[in-house]
Amino acid sequence: MTYDDQDYLRRNSNLDRVLISSEELFKRIQEMGNEITRDYQDSTPIFVCILKGAYVFLADLTRCLGVDHEVDFMAVSSYEGGTQSTGVVKIEKDLRCNITDRDIIIVEDIVDSGLTLNHLVELLSTRSPRSIRIAALLDKAAARTKPIHVDYKGFEIPKEFVVGYGLDYDEKLRNLPFIGVLKP
Ligand code: IMP
Ligand code: MG
Repeated sequence: MTYDDQDYLRRNSNLDRVLISSEELFKRIQEMGNEITRDYQDSTPIFVCILKGAYVFLADLTRCLGVDHEVDFMAVSSYEGGTQSTGVVKIEKDLRCNITDRDIIIVEDIVDSGLTLNHLVELLSTRSPRSIRIAALLDKAAARTKPIHVDYKGFEIPKEFVVGYGLDYDEKLRNLPFIGVLKP
């Protein structure tokens, strides 16, 4: 844990502990960037960032890439505040770009039930991309209700509600430099 991590932890009384420190995040994201760079040597993939949670991950991941790429953004909602999924996936903002015949990498903060990604993969597939892969920073595999294959996975985590590094609790705590767990 860095001094910065400890400082954020001290200042947020509703945080229980740090689950993944900023150093661990950075190291793993560099590895993921290297993997993607190796796999896309002959392509200019489009990174589809799922707002809002994945914006921090996208920014760090793309800065670890050694291949030309584009970014675009989509916003979906399945959580109406709080910590429980409503099971309803709504497209709030669609892509600007045309993905026909392009290699797509969906960038997601966390795969929980898998409902969001299942829905997105199905939707984007109807637009005839050349390929679709998924890069997810966190995977709560034990919470899965819809099977989904994560091609580039950062960390597997237990079935706990986490915040920070883009992930929110009621729109707050996205700015934490680490992944933390809230107090019960
Ligand atoms: P899924 O559709 O159940 O897989 O949920 C995926 C979305 O739920 C993620 O993109 C997050 O926005 C949100 N989510 C799931 N688990 C957490 C969590 O522990 N903290 C914050 N957001 C979460
Ligand atoms: Mg999300």
